[in-house]
Amino acid sequence: MTEITRDVAIVGAGPAGLTAANALKAAGLTVAVLEARDRVGGRTWTDDIDGATLEIGGQWVSPDQEALLETLDELGLETFERYREGDSLYISRTGELTRFTGDIFPVAPETEAELVRLIDKLDALAAEVDPDRPWEHPRAAELDTISFQAWLEAETDDQEARDNIALFIGPAMLTKPAHAFSTLQALLMASSAGSFTNLVDADFILDKRIVGGMQEVSHRLAARLEGDVFLGEPVRRIQHAEDSVVVTSDGITVRAKRVILAHAPVLYSRISFEPPLPRRQHQLHQHLSMGFVIKVHAVYDRPFWREAGLSGTVFSPYQLCHEAYDNTNHLDERGTLVGFVSDQHADNVFELSDEERKERILDSLAAYFGPEAKSPVVYYESDWGTEEWTRGAYAASFDLGGLHRYGADLRTPVGPIHFACSDMAGAGYQHVDGAIRMGRHVAQNLITELGA
Ligand code: FDA
Repeated sequence: MTEITRDVAIVGAGPAGLTAANALKAAGLTVAVLEARDRVGGRTWTDDIDGATLEIGGQWVSPDQEALLETLDELGLETFERYREGDSLYISRTGELTRFTGDIFPVAPETEAELVRLIDKLDALAAEVDPDRPWEHPRAAELDTISFQAWLEAETDDQEARDNIALFIGPAMLTKPAHAFSTLQALLMASSAGSFTNLVDADFILDKRIVGGMQEVSHRLAARLEGDVFLGEPVRRIQHAEDSVVVTSDGITVRAKRVILAHAPVLYSRISFEPPLPRRQHQLHQHLSMGFVIKVHAVYDRPFWREAGLSGTVFSPYQLCHEAYDNTNHLDERGTLVGFVSDQHADNVFELSDEERKERILDSLAAYFGPEAKSPVVYYESDWGTEEWTRGAYAASFDLGGLHRYGADLRTPVGPIHFACSDMAGAGYQHVDGAIRMGRHVAQNLITELGA
């Protein structure tokens, strides 16, 4: 067992942990980052699969994600636009395939009117919610104890309008069914992205990608830490006193003044705390759970949909793949579609054999793009549910009532133990931007606390 001494130990070499480590180091503090995996990046992972470079985890950047954009600038990373020329596609409740442009799906006029009304109403409500403190909304308890599904049912009898509004928060963001999270949680998701309208606008929320891949952010942040990042070191035990911690992984013991847990909150229970965490944290952590989505990558010899004047952007709450996009790499001649299979649909297809699942998913892409979609040259499913050090995707959210009951303590330190992760961010919640914001926030608190 190697023993080292540092000012701050950091558990997790994802964007949050590496941002915090860089900020602490820049302030003159010493750090050690212990990472369970044999790579940095956490839920961002750019890898070559069967000769195709794929973004297995997080990838898109939106214009309001200032912390991420500043980091890209500082690291010298460039972005490129997601391909978006041409028509998008929508499959209706009755199975009709329609081309459209703009944000509002091609639905019957009365459904369209309901969609517009609900978007306006959600925008107004989201504007009242401070993403850093949603529990302070005057109606927080009321909004947090009604599921988003029940709220939508009370708002409109129009099933297709409900299904589409639910899609933007449920399958597309929290990756849970709309009956499984509260309206306050839905409003947090919207306000963290600036508005509900921003979630509806794919050209905003999925605007740009990074040349070389999103994992490059973590690679470059880690490179600046020169030997202070230790891979393959899952932290198993944290002994803590008022002003000190002993953090033990499989091969290293770090004696430090403070520790930052920079990973998904569902994994806190993997660590033995001595003494145990307080009652409130034990309870609060059990009310958070990961969503679940399969990110499907289908690479073709060419982006054939473009020849038909299609952008590659498709939506349907009635399809196995509820959304898909052109995800062709920068300067790549081949064409890539990325599709998403969320929550209960993901559970269901994992009951099938690999071959059957692939066939069902490609059938769903073919329902939008035609039979050519059934024959990719490379096919890959990102399955974060099997990843021991993540356990779902994209991130964690509270169960019904959990956000107003416990949210305020999510970021509260316990003695020398501090918390930072995208899953507890306000702005940028569930995104790399939020991870960076939380990394900066916790580092700033520690710099002040340790007088650096
Ligand atoms: P993250 O989970 O990334 O890192 C935590 C690290 O801690 C991991 O490396 C883990 O191995 C490690 N760890 C855990 N327990 C440990 C222990 N006991 N000891 C040591 N190490 C431990 N975001 C976005 O901005 N745009 C997007 O397009 C997407 N899309 C997307 C798709 C998919 C499929 C996923 C899975 C995720 C996204 N995201 C995204 C979300 C984004 O990837 C996510 O918010 C950030 O990676 C979170 O960064 P953190 O550093 O907070 O945690």
